[in-house]
Order: sequence, then C-alpha cells, then structure tokens
Amino acid sequence: MSMSKFWSPFVKDLVPYVPGEQPKLTRLVKLNTNENPYGPSPKALAAMQTELNDNLRLYPDPNSDLLKNAVAGYYGVQSNQVFLGNGSDEVLAHIFHGLFQHDQPLLFPDISYSFYPVYCGLYGIQFDAVPLDAQFQIDPADYARPNGGIIFPNPNAPTGCLLALDAVEQILQASPDSVVVVDEAYIDFGGETAISLVDRYPNLLVTQTLSKSRSLAGLRVGLAVGHPDLIEALERIKNSFNSYPLDRLANVGAAAAFEDREYFDKTCRLVIEHREWVVAQLQAKGFEVLPSAANFIFARHLQHDAAGLAARLREQGVIVRHFKQERIAQFLRISIGTPEQNQALIDGLGDL
Ligand SMILES: Cc1ncc(COP(=O)(O)O)c(C=O)c1O
Repeated sequence: MSMSKFWSPFVKDLVPYVPGEQPKLTRLVKLNTNENPYGPSPKALAAMQTELNDNLRLYPDPNSDLLKNAVAGYYGVQSNQVFLGNGSDEVLAHIFHGLFQHDQPLLFPDISYSFYPVYCGLYGIQFDAVPLDAQFQIDPADYARPNGGIIFPNPNAPTGCLLALDAVEQILQASPDSVVVVDEAYIDFGGETAISLVDRYPNLLVTQTLSKSRSLAGLRVGLAVGHPDLIEALERIKNSFNSYPLDRLANVGAAAAFEDREYFDKTCRLVIEHREWVVAQLQAKGFEVLPSAANFIFARHLQHDAAGLAARLREQGVIVRHFKQERIAQFLRISIGTPEQNQALIDGLGDL
C-alpha cells in the first residue's frame, strides 16, 4: 500500500469503498453494477440538450428548487421534505455525518450495501452488523434494541430481497427515538415506497436514486424524503460542504425524468419481465436464486464455485459481481440487462 509522509493519520487509516468495475472495453456485457440497460427518458435527454448553452457560465440554483418541486409533486409531499445530492451516495454520506453520530451503535444488516461501514469509518460512527436470518431476510425483531440509528436497503443489496411495508413500520415503531433510513435505491422494480409513511413517522428518512430505475447513473442524482427537521440537518451539512452538488444539467434532466412517468413505467416493467426470464433460466441450470424485487438477482450454484463461474463468464465477455465476503462468497450478483445481454449471460454459463 502506498503512503505519503504528507498524509494525515486519519487518511492512513481510511478503508475506502471499492465500486464495481467500469471497464474501458465497451463490448463487454456489463451486468456488474446494476445500471439500467435502457437509456434515460428521451424527455430528460432533450431537457439537458436545451440546457447545454451559454448559461453554463452561471452557477446552478444552490437549492435545486425545480427538481425539489418535481420530486415533491411526484410523491405528494412538501418541497421542504425533500433533500437532493450528487447521487444517493452523497445523500447517505450527509445522513451518516449529520444523523448517525450517537452514543449507541448504528444498526444495519451484516449483508448489505458495503458503503455503510465505509461511511462509519469516515465519520467515526460505531456500528453493529445485524445478521440476516437463515433465508437471508431482515427480521424486524432483531432491530428492536437500543441503537443510535438504523439503515437498510429495501430491497436489500446485494440480496435483492424485499421487506414488506408493515415490517418496515415495525422497525420504525420499535425505535421512535432514532432515525431509521430506508435506502430505496431499487424500490421501483417491485417494492412499495415507504415515502407514504413519512408524515406519520418523524424519525423516517427514505433515500432514492435516479441511477437505477431512471437510468441516470452517469448524471449523479439522489434524494431523501422525510420530516422537514431531518431535511434541515442534511441541508446544514450540505451547505457546509458544497453549495452546488447538482449542476444545471442534472437539475433539468432529473426533473424531466420524474415528469416522464410513461417511459419510467415502461422500462421498469421490461426489467421486471426480463428478470423473471433470467431467474427461470438460472433455476433450470441448477442455480438457487433469492427472491428479487430489484434490477438484479443474487444466485448460487450448488455444484459450481462462484468465483470460478464469474471468471468463466468474464472469458465469455460477460461481467457480473462477486463479493469475497463470508456467508455470500458462493453467490453471484447479476444485473438484469436487455434480452440480448441476458441471453449472453445464459449462453456464457454454458452447460453446467
Ligand atoms: C443500496 C444502494 N444504495 C445506494 C446506492 C448509490 O447509488 P447512487 O450513488 O448512484 O445514487 C447504491 C448503488 O449501487 C446501492 O446499491
């Protein structure tokens, strides 16, 4: 590991997140980072093209009012219940920084988004990883204990498993004095958003991203919806860090994406439909596939080693994600692609 005498001790001890590979080879079938195989809404692209003009010399709206209003209108909340950031990763960073530094440990599932422990390291937050049950599900009863906050993805990543809304509510009711964050990066592929609960639970914060269901991973837009007091904490952090996390293109492109419901519904439906096809094909090859409500599936083969399968696929030009983590080392996480990409995956696995 390289180090420099100029580094502060803090930087020397940081353990950064490692994102999925973004290969320079464009001919690979890329099923490793849960991007959307369909392009962004044509209306979002058109809005950004219109915005590509001389006004780029001016700073964007620091409050992103246009986009806040679009999100608030879409979900039927007030715009002071909406927070925006440069990807939901940035929104999550501000949440960890502003709402999770407490005497009790933060709780999140042992198998979950691997950025959570990284933010704990960055902001000095103590945490307890709560084991998923034997079926890789979140059990709300496991979270009914003293804590300094709770966060979990729903559907969970990388398992894809959905927690029903009444179970989310059980978690909220058991911890009325701590902030509960539901990370809904993948909610639009088969789940029901907890945003309907924010007016009843002042401790609930729901995060979402435009990277998955709205196919704008390259634009970097994420959001949180919750009680205005929680949003205010995030605004304070944001305005102490970067006044302009969303640029001019992001503001208009994301707002137009929220307005184009028809395109959104159609592409989400396609991903869900093709997910069911991929699941059936993998099961026919002897894979066990966890029930998925996301744009990816999590599967293991009972006779074949996961790292070996990932390497075999890579040779065939198909990349999937494999985590070298206890409990899930025999699983592959596979994003749902276009029908052609999905076929390449199935063909690439060959005869098992
Ligand atoms: C569970 C979960 N949360 C948040 C994110 C971050 O998404 P983004 O920063 O692109 O909004 C991801 C990305 O893969 C994710 O899997």
